Amino acid sequence: MNLAVFASGTGSNFDAILQAIKEGTLDANVSLLVCDKIEAPVVQKAQRHHIDTVVFNSKCYESKAAYEEVLLKDLQSRGIDYIILAGFMRLIGPTLLEAYEHRILNIHPSLLPAFPGKDAIGQALDKKVKVTGVTVHFVDNGMDTGPIIEQEAVRVEPDDTREAVQKKIQAVEHKLYPRVIQSLPVKEESQ
Ligand code: GAR
Repeated sequence: MNLAVFASGTGSNFDAILQAIKEGTLDANVSLLVCDKIEAPVVQKAQRHHIDTVVFNSKCYESKAAYEEVLLKDLQSRGIDYIILAGFMRLIGPTLLEAYEHRILNIHPSLLPAFPGKDAIGQALDKKVKVTGVTVHFVDNGMDTGPIIEQEAVRVEPDDTREAVQKKIQAVEHKLYPRVIQSLPVKEESQ
């Protein structure tokens, strides 16, 4: 299974995917990192692992369709089976959605449909929920609205800080995402 990871930030999920591949629990290959922020730590992580990286600045293109066309050509030329969003803070447009229908996954730090969008952990803490969690879902044209593939709950204790909740959520993410990716159907020729 040939993967492209799209990320904008720290890249702990990117690392967890690479670690699962190294340990043999995920039978896949990450051939490309796509990032929209040159300063994102995930870019250095990809370089350390010698993974090809495309960094793009959306402001250099006249539209989302324009940069997605460029990305799509690259993804297709590399035979990418799935696009894995791992903290990619940009909505995917029709160009990639149509070409990769049911082949774009996202991980989100809440039990969707609760707390979509930015700062899901902050939203959960503001509402003083007792349970939040992690969702892996297929991406559609909405914000965190696509069909849910898997979810796992995380308990929020009354004295939990934001950092404490984030740590628990990320520990779940790092196990759940590789496991879900491993369960995806694979085309014969890319096995
Ligand atoms: C992850 O917690 C992921 O669930 C979240 O961004 C973080 C990225 O962390 N994604 C979203 O909030 C998407 N709406 P990472 O860069 O360390 O993998």
